[in-house]
Amino acid sequence: MKNILHIISSPRKEVSASRKLGNAIVEKIQEKYPDAVVKDRDLTVSPTPLLDEAHINTFFSPAENHSSEQQSISKYSEDLISELKEADIIVIDSPMYNFSVPATLRAYFDFTSRAGYTFKYDEKRTKRLVER
Ligand SMILES: Cc1cc2nc3c(=O)[nH]c(=O)nc-3n(C[C@H](O)[C@H](O)[C@H](O)COP(=O)(O)O)c2cc1C
Repeated sequence: MKNILHIISSPRKEVSASRKLGNAIVEKIQEKYPDAVVKDRDLTVSPTPLLDEAHINTFFSPAENHSSEQQSISKYSEDLISELKEADIIVIDSPMYNFSVPATLRAYFDFTSRAGYTFKYDEKRTKRLVER
């Protein structure tokens, strides 16, 4: 059984091209894997916050020193990462906004791209290596 994580980032609903395309891709995958479980993460309904100082301090400090606020920040990020790691297939619907992705999607990447969780540095810290 495949787990599909469907990440949605357009604030537009009915007229959204990226949602239409993403839904069509998910349907195609379901044709191939009829028992696939689809989980939607609509970033316009539950937006990931923009990175602030408290978030950065949490992500770059050892867990054993975390305050209760930092523990809850870390847990929020770790829950998003677990959801990502549980997925066999990830479908991301994204408009292009000013030659990039919407801020909601960028914020999601900032909370899920974490050293020791989703990537690690090589010995010289010059390269990022993917962690599964
Ligand atoms: C604020 C904003 C910025 C945009 N910037 C770009 C852009 O840089 N390049 C581009 O090709 N299209 C750009 N577009 C067009 C959108 O990518 C296009 O309308 C797309 O269909 C939006 O996705 P959606 O239909 O899923 O909402 C922009 C649209 C908006 C609203």
